[in-house]
Amino acid sequence: MKIIRNTKHFIIWRKSLPKNTTVGFVPTMGALHKGHISLISRCRKENQVTVVSIFVNPLQFGPKEDFNQYPRPWSADFKLLKKAGVHLLFAPTTAAMYHEGFSTQVFVKKLSKTLCGSPTSRGPEHFVGVATVVAKLFNLVRPTRAYFGMKDFQQLRIIEQMNKDLDWGVKIVRCPTVREFDGLAMSSRNIYLSPIERVLAPQIYRTLQQGRKLLTSKPPKSPNLIQNELKKTLLTIPDIKIEYLELVNPVTLQKVQKSKLPILIAAAVKFKSARLIDNILVK
Ligand code: PAJ
Repeated sequence: MKIIRNTKHFIIWRKSLPKNTTVGFVPTMGALHKGHISLISRCRKENQVTVVSIFVNPLQFGPKEDFNQYPRPWSADFKLLKKAGVHLLFAPTTAAMYHEGFSTQVFVKKLSKTLCGSPTSRGPEHFVGVATVVAKLFNLVRPTRAYFGMKDFQQLRIIEQMNKDLDWGVKIVRCPTVREFDGLAMSSRNIYLSPIERVLAPQIYRTLQQGRKLLTSKPPKSPNLIQNELKKTLLTIPDIKIEYLELVNPVTLQKVQKSKLPILIAAAVKFKSARLIDNILVK
């Protein structure tokens, strides 16, 4: 596996590939787990060359968020990527990605303001940070296909919209959420959970599944009623705060008024030491 940490070297490497090579790309922030590896395995199957990036992107962390604390287990990640058969690891330094005076932002307007982008959650700046870094990475990697997890459904929708709006023509591949044995969605942030919180956390997925049942039972209840019922269930978890629990249209991410499928049930929950998100797409 080749490692490049510098954008200039990356551009030279990219130019050295034969013209019609299919390049698959999996952007990550490292602290890799089976969720990431599932994206990489799929990418390996569908492309001649697999590029993975590891970059903990400062632009997408708010001032009170966990940028400094974010896990960076470099040698474990390196071993996993080598084992997964990745051809190139692009792990740029912050200075390589953001030169002094860097000032361009990519803002995918409507989709960045709901759910995690609402002012009572992480705010739209989070997704400006995500879209800006992914735009830069797409320009450097020029992938045929790029792989994103449905665990971060809003992020995925924002990247799809950006790709369409800016005419990159990258095939964005949606990958299903990989879960622990008890249903908890795998996340690099799960290590922040205390042992007790770790036992309670799968309740989030169970609540989403309860929502699926309520939506698909006949006649289905209204989204508002379902939302209230699911919130009540979540509030039985001790010491948590619900940032949001919403039933939204999976294309626009706006709240739905009717129980017409498909509907995305999305939740963000704050434990003392970790903020977790999860969602299910009910079709
Ligand atoms: P990160 O959180 O490292 O996630 C990288 C990719 O892995 C994302 O597409 C995410 O949705 C996917 N992923 C994470 N957990 C998953 C799981 N349990 N199952 C399936 N896929 C999962 O998302 C980011 O990094 C960053 O915002 C990034 C896109 C790299 C931009 O900085």
